[in-house]
Amino acid sequence: MATEFHPENVSLAQDGRAVRIIDQTLLPGRLRFIELSTPEECHDAIARLAVRGAPAIGVFAGFSLAVIAGNMLQGRRDGAFGEADLHALQDRADYLASSRPTAVNLSWALERMMGLARRCVGSRCGDVRAALLAEAHAIQQEDAAMCKSMAELGLGLIEDGWGLITHCNAGPLATSCYGTALGPILLGTERGMRFRVFADETRPLLQGARLTAYELDRAGVDVTLICDGMSSAVMRQGWVQACFVGADRVAANGDTANKIGTSNLAIVAKRYGVPFYVMCPSSTLDFSCKTGDDIPIELRRGEEIKQMFFSEPVAPEGVACYNPSFDVTDNDLITAIVTEKGICRPPFTESLAAVRDR
Ligand code: MRU
Repeated sequence: MATEFHPENVSLAQDGRAVRIIDQTLLPGRLRFIELSTPEECHDAIARLAVRGAPAIGVFAGFSLAVIAGNMLQGRRDGAFGEADLHALQDRADYLASSRPTAVNLSWALERMMGLARRCVGSRCGDVRAALLAEAHAIQQEDAAMCKSMAELGLGLIEDGWGLITHCNAGPLATSCYGTALGPILLGTERGMRFRVFADETRPLLQGARLTAYELDRAGVDVTLICDGMSSAVMRQGWVQACFVGADRVAANGDTANKIGTSNLAIVAKRYGVPFYVMCPSSTLDFSCKTGDDIPIELRRGEEIKQMFFSEPVAPEGVACYNPSFDVTDNDLITAIVTEKGICRPPFTESLAAVRDR
């Protein structure tokens, strides 16, 4: 019997003056909640992946800006929200946006919040704070609804008893509900279906081992952890009938940025004729990027490869490291991109544009 696992990964602290998150860097060993209220704390939480996953980063950014605005305007309940306040808030939004470059949900959510703030100039500060908080809640509720729609659509692509594979973590911890890539699996499991899921460990930060295996295990799903380089061994034996991954940004032509190693998985899937599905809410589509070449890719410290998670360094001290956090999967490797508004198939330039206009 499936155990539902829908953690409150991002919420407002009881006093409304901080954002409360699960510190995902401590999972699966410790489930600890932390509260963040300053721009620096919120920026740091995103940068060190205490909160992570494209939709969750967007939701967190919404709450962060609402909290930061509330703290900035404290004591001025009845005063007017002026141009100087708007500029000060824009500075803080730009600072938050600089925490990680690839997931478009971050800038998307901040721009949505700032659009509201611009319309609020001249209003009472107390009302502006309430409006920003309501907008952050709306972003979160919409994300949960999008996850549910995607899960239903994705479930229509798979059958009871199938073997599935996923990369990184695109589950409840990365979103506001079922997740994106894990949505069909969790929904199907709730309805009594059985799947065997292979989770790539996802070097170097191990989101697959630490988070996906944790979430699926808690939900009663049969999950088998593998190293990233093992996917071809698993697919060659016919154990996998479909791949499901999330996305951090999808370009207009369907090229998709997701956790480093996703494109390797897609290439292997193509070799063995296994369908490769990308699951993402429409807030992850970025039509200002024509192709994947336009998507900024985050580069992180080599220490994550050489040292982190090991009791001793696993490489010579001075060795050079290349540590891109994401890669781009070319659109011709993708069978379909599932959004909450529908399933997009090639040619993606047309099918994604149709979803945008729906
Ligand atoms: O570096 P992370 O852990 O934030 O990377 C997360 C991913 O790559 C996810 O697959 C993506 O954000 C989609 S989450 C629904």
